[in-house]
Amino acid sequence: MTRVLITGGAGCLGSNLIEHWLPQGHQFLVLDNFATGKREVVPAVPGLEVREGHIGDAQFVEQAFAQFKPELVIHSAAAYKDPADWQEDARTNVTGSIEVVKASERHGVGRLVNFQTVLSYGRTSVSPIPVSHPTAPFTSYGISKTAGEQYVLQAKLPVVSLRLANVTGPRLAIGPIPTFYKRLKAGQKCFCSDTARDFLDMSDFFSMIDLAVQPGAATGVFNVASGEAHYIKEIFELVARHLGLPAMDVPVVPPAADDVPVVALDASQTTKAFGWTPKVGFEDTIRKQLEWYDRYGVSDIYSHLSSKS
Ligand SMILES: NC(=O)c1ccc[n+]([C@@H]2O[C@H](COP(=O)([O-])OP(=O)(O)OC[C@H]3O[C@@H](n4cnc5c(N)ncnc54)[C@H](O)[C@@H]3O)[C@@H](O)[C@H]2O)c1
Repeated sequence: MTRVLITGGAGCLGSNLIEHWLPQGHQFLVLDNFATGKREVVPAVPGLEVREGHIGDAQFVEQAFAQFKPELVIHSAAAYKDPADWQEDARTNVTGSIEVVKASERHGVGRLVNFQTVLSYGRTSVSPIPVSHPTAPFTSYGISKTAGEQYVLQAKLPVVSLRLANVTGPRLAIGPIPTFYKRLKAGQKCFCSDTARDFLDMSDFFSMIDLAVQPGAATGVFNVASGEAHYIKEIFELVARHLGLPAMDVPVVPPAADDVPVVALDASQTTKAFGWTPKVGFEDTIRKQLEWYDRYGVSDIYSHLSSKS
């Protein structure tokens, strides 16, 4: 049994991790301000406490660490919802990360796992991007997350920062997959941006993080991805086929000015360090996601935990 503190535990990845780990009998403390997460997805079931607060609030963070005494910290909280709100991005992604690192040091945390966005690499023509590639973020989210990661890497404790592809799984409610599913089902028109992304199934994310949290496992920065770039139009076609719609033309528009055309991450260093490779291929990853929407709808609320409690 491990005492696990998860910042941003009411978000997509955090809440999926809790569902994955709770049956193993760990104790969890979630710190979340519900900026983009939902309290309903992490109800207070035995072994799981949820505290509302901002990780940039030093007193809130210190009190949580002092009382809970975590052995493992998963730093999943991040601000991104208003690209113009640089102050909030910096307060959460930079100051919040610093508070989490400092509290982890003060309270003898055994390991800290951080999640990082591919936006830290900025606009690069290299594909797939190796983890050694320089960072060059150009959005408020990317800039603040990159600074936050640099602070995390200064921590005087074992730290792993996982640079993640687009992880797909329960409650994924943003991006092309839910958008096409919802619109095509409602008979609405769609368009595709002429961009390609790297998609990773939640089960492959779980197998990686299970390795990353092991005491004595490798530390540092790692790409966690399939290594393959797939065009948004491919997703459109898979969604249309899944819904039994006839082949149709869809407008493909050039990427927006703040968009990166092609993103895939080279995870070969991760394979070397952890022996990890993703197992679920692209079409199966998308199919699993669409089957989840068939069962539960496009919602970020549904929780296996709340269905049991
Ligand atoms: N999901 C992905 O595919 C993906 C890809 C790359 C990186 N990431 C990173 O993984 C982490 C989790 O992403 P996600 O997809 O679950 O996003 P999410 O928005 O679902 O989760 C983030 C959580 O952090 C919480 N939060 C925001 N500001 C906070 C604050 N100041 N104090 C406390 N809690 C706060 C939100 O309410 C939310 O519950 C983030 O760090 C993100 O940058 C995710």
